[in-house]
Amino acid sequence: MTADPARQAAFDVLTAALAHKAGLESALEGPALARLEPQDRNFARALVMATLRNLGPIDKALDQRLQRPPPEPARMILRLGAAQLFHLDTPPYAAVNASVALADALRSTRGFKPLINAVLRRLAQGGPGDVDAADFAPAWLFARWRAAFGEDAARAVAAQIAAEPATDLTARDPADAPALAEALEATRLPGGSLRREGRGRIETWPGFVEGRWWVQDAAAAIPARLLDAQAGEAVLDLCAAPGGKALQLAAAGAAVTALDRSAARLVRLTEAMRRTGLAAETVAADAAAWPHERTFDAVLLDAPCTSSGTFRRNPDVLWTLRPGDIARLAETQSRLLDAAARHVRPGGRLIYCVCSLETEEGEAQARDFLKGHPDFATQPAAGGEGGAPAQSLTPEGWLRVLPHQLDGGLDGFFIARFVRGAS
Ligand SMILES: C[S@@+](CC[C@H](N)C(=O)[O-])C[C@H]1O[C@@H](n2cnc3c(N)ncnc32)[C@H](O)[C@@H]1O
Repeated sequence: MTADPARQAAFDVLTAALAHKAGLESALEGPALARLEPQDRNFARALVMATLRNLGPIDKALDQRLQRPPPEPARMILRLGAAQLFHLDTPPYAAVNASVALADALRSTRGFKPLINAVLRRLAQGGPGDVDAADFAPAWLFARWRAAFGEDAARAVAAQIAAEPATDLTARDPADAPALAEALEATRLPGGSLRREGRGRIETWPGFVEGRWWVQDAAAAIPARLLDAQAGEAVLDLCAAPGGKALQLAAAGAAVTALDRSAARLVRLTEAMRRTGLAAETVAADAAAWPHERTFDAVLLDAPCTSSGTFRRNPDVLWTLRPGDIARLAETQSRLLDAAARHVRPGGRLIYCVCSLETEEGEAQARDFLKGHPDFATQPAAGGEGGAPAQSLTPEGWLRVLPHQLDGGLDGFFIARFVRGAS
């Protein structure tokens, strides 16, 4: 029995993303897919994404047919088999046989061939079963979202996990957006982002080489719009790489200092600046320990976070996240907020944002920040400001953007704008 290379690669990527927590993006860019023929690569990618987008319902259906949990590698093969049966239109005999062949190819799963065969045959006969929106997220995360946003919103958020997102772009020059929308066959979103269905090789899309746009989720473009950088203002972007927000600030004419701890990620920022004909001063440093005394007209802190709001593109984040990660990252965010505050000149603005759905990283951070920094006050956002969905405005004037608040979805974000007292 020989395993099909595309399924073998999908197994490797899924294992890297889920079991080794290597990050989906780097797992997809790694050698497993690179060595495949294009057609196989497309199939392997589609299989991994279908499995991750439907992981909750798939695991539920498998658990109903398993007497005890199988070892992780056997479960991965079962998951891939179920995704082929229910989401990729693979004929049942092919899905089952290919899964058994894959099990045969690995020493750790060879002994589970009969189990894999039997469970997948039963699944093929019985179908996926009842699927509830809540099944798409891990139960503990869904419970948190329900507590924070209410039952209906939590269900609407979880339902977004299954859908393949479009690609959102930000135009370097907002006046160019109508022409770009036409050339790219994209729709224009509130706030000015462009949305193009599908994926593919973006470097071949109109306007890429000329640097007329960059890829940026519609929600990720809101924080820099709220900062409203003016030409000539000195702006510090404290966790800047790979650079979507720094590009927006530079495009507005601000003198941008882009700081990030990761020199490797700053290289991506510098390349994007070069491609778009924009510029920023870059600093590779730990923001919390940056000794610079300089203050700025405005500071943007897009802090490291659980990234639970980015599950539409990286569904693995939901399944690799552990409750302890939230508290650990919240502590880092609080330290970085203290550092950010030090660099805001009297009368200057501070934007704090995270692509997280967890309140400890959002509302609780903003509340604690105001308590610990009496010289700062919230500068409330207006309804719909910066293209934010109207429902995202909180009573405090912050933005709690949820992925279902725009047709076709957008990333989950928390965004707060503060202003420092003038003296
Ligand atoms: C959410 S990402 C920033 C995304 C970026 N603002 C953008 O729009 O493309 C968080 C960034 O924080 C950086 N980071 C994490 N801890 C840091 C620290 N202590 N000091 C500076 N940067 C840090 C990471 O390297 C990562 O690039």
